[in-house]
Amino acid sequence: MTYDIEQINTLIKSRRSTFPKQYNPDAPIDESIIRQVVENATYAPSHGNLQPWKFVVFIGEGRSKLARFQAELYKNESGENFKPATYDGLLANPLKAGCVVALCLKRDPNKKFPEMEEIAAVACAVQNMYLTVTAYGLGGYWTTGGVTYKESAKEFFGLDADDKLMGFFYIGTIAVASPAKERAAMQDKVEWVLA
Ligand SMILES: Cc1cc2nc3c(=O)[nH]c(=O)nc-3n(C[C@H](O)[C@H](O)[C@H](O)COP(=O)(O)O)c2cc1C
Repeated sequence: MTYDIEQINTLIKSRRSTFPKQYNPDAPIDESIIRQVVENATYAPSHGNLQPWKFVVFIGEGRSKLARFQAELYKNESGENFKPATYDGLLANPLKAGCVVALCLKRDPNKKFPEMEEIAAVACAVQNMYLTVTAYGLGGYWTTGGVTYKESAKEFFGLDADDKLMGFFYIGTIAVASPAKERAAMQDKVEWVLA
């Protein structure tokens, strides 16, 4: 099988993070596309092929369920740090997207490999999501905001104590495109050993 490497290079380089305020909230996304995005995520590599991910996909009214859950949890737990704008954002953002995917790590019960490797596998899966939405001309981004690091959020996503919520992947129809963010010069990030 051969691939068009120019197209793949272009796809990788044109991937962007596109945020909820840039989505058209009135343009639903075909469910078959969302299924393809998630299916491609499951083709990511993982040590021992453990596939330590779990994705909870919030679409349609499901987005409201997520919105209410995260806003209320924030309200109940933020105490004197409560900010109305944060609450409003948690309530509104899922509805701007066509779909929000909770990114979960289900820890191998045998703990065969270090946790870092399972985290890395989930991150590879998220990159597959990023590239697939880019190929469809959709926007998306990974956020670790909101309730991501709250232990009390885990149950909602079917996670146990050893599991991790690694954030959310938002998918939306692009109304306002993101500009490309500059990359460091390759020589600053890559060391070549030639002999
Ligand atoms: C693990 C991870 C967590 C991220 N969390 C956030 C976040 O909470 N909020 C946000 O605005 N962007 C978040 N991003 C997206 C980055 O801001 C974005 O990838 C970066 O600015 C580079 O832009 P680009 O994706 O368009 O190339 C996250 C990205 C990664 C990989």
